[in-house]
Amino acid sequence: MNDLNHLAIIMDGNGRWAKLKSLARSVGHKNGADTIDKVALTCIDLGIKNLTLYAFSTENWSRPKEEIDFLLNLAKDFIKKKEALFIKNGVKFETKGDISVFDDELKKAISHLKEVTKNGSNLTLALAVNYGSKDEIARAVKKLIKLNLEINEENITQHLDAPQMGNVDLIIRTGGEQRLSNFMLWQGAYAELVFTPTLWPDFNQKELFKIVENYKKIHRKFGGL
Ligand code: IPE
Ligand code: IPE
Ligand code: MG
Repeated sequence: MNDLNHLAIIMDGNGRWAKLKSLARSVGHKNGADTIDKVALTCIDLGIKNLTLYAFSTENWSRPKEEIDFLLNLAKDFIKKKEALFIKNGVKFETKGDISVFDDELKKAISHLKEVTKNGSNLTLALAVNYGSKDEIARAVKKLIKLNLEINEENITQHLDAPQMGNVDLIIRTGGEQRLSNFMLWQGAYAELVFTPTLWPDFNQKELFKIVENYKKIHRKFGGL
């Protein structure tokens, strides 16, 4: 049986979920945000120690301004509201992605939630915001150059965002598209991939249990036999 230390999810399909119900895309995003709590608590039940959730990519800036504003406000609301829930459940909050571009209010909310949850030991939950794997790798290499460190695999790995979370074991993408969209290319080099047609707002505990059960039985070879 495989261990599952780090699960990462590409939370896709919010817009299509709303469209199917003749609702605004923003309603889909709102419902998608509500799925996060359930999934995080399920991860704790399953003994998963690290969860990375793809919330906003470096490519999502190409969406209409109203949608970008809505998504960033939703992220802000989410981060401001989670203090009690995260502390109660031992969740340590992290981010991945270049957060230097955000306004002061969002940056402060992020650093506050990180600070007050830093002792959480049940689950580390990283929200990937303004995240792109290529950007993350390029920033890691820049850090190495600045620190005058050798450019090698180990040093790059140690200078990615929230490096303590380690390699990702399993990447789930909801919404049916079968691509990685610039997500965890380095840490997911040997990840198992699961693509489900379920739209993110409909994703639930039962489906996560099933996916994890199947994952545990896979023969992971890492190039060996
Ligand atoms: C995922 O849902 C959330 C983000 C990318 C921010 P989408 O907004 O991509 O939903 P679809 O793919 O259009 O259904
Ligand atoms: C990937 O979804 C990014 C997030 C879930 C945050 P997209 O909807 O942006 O991906 P593409 O454009 O379909 O590849
Ligand atoms: Mg999408």
